[in-house]
Amino acid sequence: MAKVVINTDFKQRKNRISRNIYGHFAEHLGRCIYEGFWVGKDSSIPNTRGIRKDVVEALRKINIPNLRWPGGCFADEYHWKDGIGQIKTRPKMVNTHWGGVIENNHFGTHEFFDLCHQLGCEPYICGNVGSGTVQEMSQWIEYITFDGDSPMVNLRRNNGQEDPWKIKYWGVGNENWGCGGNMTAEYYSDLFLQYSTYCRDFSGNKLYKIACGPAGEFPITQVLHWVDVLMKKVKTTLSNVIQGISLHYYTRAGMSASATKISEKSWLLTMKKALYIDELILKIGEIMNKYDPSKRIKLIIDEWGTWWRVEKGTNSGFLYQQNTMRDAIVASLHLDVFNNHCDRVYMANIAQTINVLQAMILTQEEKIVLTPTYHVFDMYKIHQDAMLLSINIESEIYEKNLTAIHGSASINDNNEIHISLCNINPNSNIETSIKLLQLDLNDKTLSARILKADQMNAHNTFESPHNLKPENFNSSNFIIQRNEIKFKMPRMAIIVIKVSL
Ligand code: AHR
Repeated sequence: MAKVVINTDFKQRKNRISRNIYGHFAEHLGRCIYEGFWVGKDSSIPNTRGIRKDVVEALRKINIPNLRWPGGCFADEYHWKDGIGQIKTRPKMVNTHWGGVIENNHFGTHEFFDLCHQLGCEPYICGNVGSGTVQEMSQWIEYITFDGDSPMVNLRRNNGQEDPWKIKYWGVGNENWGCGGNMTAEYYSDLFLQYSTYCRDFSGNKLYKIACGPAGEFPITQVLHWVDVLMKKVKTTLSNVIQGISLHYYTRAGMSASATKISEKSWLLTMKKALYIDELILKIGEIMNKYDPSKRIKLIIDEWGTWWRVEKGTNSGFLYQQNTMRDAIVASLHLDVFNNHCDRVYMANIAQTINVLQAMILTQEEKIVLTPTYHVFDMYKIHQDAMLLSINIESEIYEKNLTAIHGSASINDNNEIHISLCNINPNSNIETSIKLLQLDLNDKTLSARILKADQMNAHNTFESPHNLKPENFNSSNFIIQRNEIKFKMPRMAIIVIKVSL
């Protein structure tokens, strides 16, 4: 039996779940940008100014709030001036991190802003600290946002963009402890202050600056050391140099675990690794609280998701993997954890949107497949911008210290409560009771959607794209008594219940 208790009291509603927790990440890696988003204006695949219509439509449906670009490791090797001007004359470069392929720079700043405009989402750019210069980063911001008369603005106007764009989210380097320059925490913190000083707010645009944080896969002492050094450094300086610190955390069950050949041992390890994100946020939060008890500086988990062995026959530098019910559960566990920590976690970007790692969408020429992870984002979009409700879950154990049921709850401005729950146990259905304190459910309407599978590796393919998709969970499955909802939660399933007040 699992007992879920939710406090619906007004006084308990303190924190709003930022829509940016449901953010995305697109890098010049494999087939994410090229073939994924960008097919070019002359393609026979339906497109708007070179951007695929089908992927735009699918991502708009899940209310994509923001998109991080151009990397990843690629960001610290990217020189933005190579990606502007006439497409045909843009210089090429070698994408040394990802397969050593030639990057033709056909997708650059103007195309990125057009993409965000078509998606209706906020742009998030990660600038180059590893191999760039302070001047290069500062000029990029001027090119994008300044509305006066300057060499950068004239360059932009010559390239066809009269008015400046707006951009809020700006990353100062990516993984600078590794692919972004192999720096120490001390060295990066100094560089961060230097770079961010010259990330100016032009023409009414206000930047939200995000510093590079640690990787959750590091030993915890190293994770906390990076955060401690950075927080100490920025604490003693002006408050407007930093708004967020990033954290990257990938879920892997060993270095060569397959996406689709899943033993129960590998399933279990995956669940443990996924749930470690909770502990990481708590521990990092303790260090941040030491310097910033009012939680002004936010935690930005700008890369997260599963990382499996690449699919047979694909370029090992392209990180193309299938996506199963296991990935869906990993997504729901993360999103629930992020929701429950929304006082500190302001943004999270799953890696990566199309054809790379834990993707929302897979493409094959003109065909697309929506993955089980996409469906979780679709089911969970109802938490975006809603107020978090406190939830307490006592559930039976699946294995060792792992409880089976996990979840979060929120109430939106239309007085709708949403409860998302997942059962990580692949073998047993679980009798579940949800108590909504301070409520009488007798006159309330209830509805629910569920994503479930019979196999741990159930997935969608180009031949069978709808194997796995959310279904309505019939209200006859629920027993409602006063403030309690009782039902049997199927094994390895994700459910979102809506209670309209
Ligand atoms: O998402 C793939 C890579 O993982 C990113 O480029 C890098 O930041 C991380 O190590």
